[in-house]
Amino acid sequence: MKVIVCKTYEEASLESAKIVAEVMKNKPNAILGLATGSTPEGMYSELARMNKEGEIDFKDITTVNLDEYYPISPDNDQSYRYFMNKNLFDRVNIDKSRTHVPDGSAPDGEKEAERYENYVRSLGGADIQVLGIGRNGHIAFNEPDEELVPVTHVTSLTADTIDANARFFKSADEVPTHALTMGMGTILSAKKIIIIATGANKHEAVKQMLKGTCTTKCPASFLNLHKDVVLVCDEAAYNG
Ligand code: F6R
Repeated sequence: MKVIVCKTYEEASLESAKIVAEVMKNKPNAILGLATGSTPEGMYSELARMNKEGEIDFKDITTVNLDEYYPISPDNDQSYRYFMNKNLFDRVNIDKSRTHVPDGSAPDGEKEAERYENYVRSLGGADIQVLGIGRNGHIAFNEPDEELVPVTHVTSLTADTIDANARFFKSADEVPTHALTMGMGTILSAKKIIIIATGANKHEAVKQMLKGTCTTKCPASFLNLHKDVVLVCDEAAYNG
């Protein structure tokens, strides 16, 4: 795994955006795998700026997001669809019909997971997948467990993740208990992966991942199986 240590969150956001922009310049119809959460917000702002300044073009870009709460309406301001529209899609020249987020309003979650998995597979996987990392080492909603699931599936959120996400809701009780998420194999099918980690609360997870071994106790450690992964982090996440 290649590691880029930045001084600040802003620097990490710019470095990450540069990596995504490079893929877009080399392949104007690239498939971008995208993440939500606080971490990539700065990167999305940089990508929006680059698009405004004419450096990158989203006209022929397709996107596939990692996950979505379940059940949740796409209009709910806590949904990941809403987040993506606000933080990126409404700020760049992307064709919205090419933007894909698992449908949190689908009547049957299992069927939606299967449909989404088949769709990502039909694209041949993402050209680049952007990831954040949970403080417990989760990626997308693949939480530490005895076993990990390879394909897109419905999962229940751990108490730790509900607690971490409660800051976006009025109270922890309002955080949805389930989610639709790409599986470990879906994520690893991307041609290139960039994982962004900022802040001291990510240090333990980063340290475990950088050991170079794989354990289901830290799903991010499975990125060690992939041959083109870049970790972009700040000094706090790297050094603790
Ligand atoms: C979101 C996602 C999650 C986050 C992780 C870190 O699409 O896949 O795994 O990347 O929970 O979240 P933040 O960035 O808010 O610390």
